Amino acid sequence: MLKIHHLGYAVQDLEASVDEFKRLGYDQRGDTTRDWERKVAIQFMTNGPYLIELIAPLSSDSPVNNILSKVGNSPYHICYEVDNIDAEISRLSGETYILIENTSEALAIGKRKVAFLYHADVGLIELINS
Ligand code: NI
Repeated sequence: MLKIHHLGYAVQDLEASVDEFKRLGYDQRGDTTRDWERKVAIQFMTNGPYLIELIAPLSSDSPVNNILSKVGNSPYHICYEVDNIDAEISRLSGETYILIENTSEALAIGKRKVAFLYHADVGLIELINS
C-alpha cells in the first residue's frame, strides 16, 4: 500500500489562495518556499491529519502553468511516501508508469528525494522518500 503524504494543488495566486484556504479552516505549515529550479512557489497547509501543498508558478514557463491554463486552480498530484524511492520507481515503471521527473531534492520538504510519474489511468503522481 502506498501511503498518501500530501495532495498537490495548483493555484495562480499563492497569497490569495492561502487566505482562502485559511477561511476553509486550514492552517499554514512552515514558510513559503520559492523553488527557482522548479519555478514554483510552495506553501504547505494542514487540515487535521491532511496535508496539502499549494503550488503557484514563479515564471511564465513554470510547469504548473500547464494545468492552470487548462482548468485553473485545481488538484494537481497525489504524493505517496515510500521507503525506497528508487525501488518504487523501478516497480511502477514496470507497470507502465512513465517517469516525468527523475529524483531530485524537494526544497519545500527538507530536501527529501521526490520524483514524478504519470499513468494514463491515474494521472500525475509524486513519490517522496520517507
Ligand atoms: Ni507535491
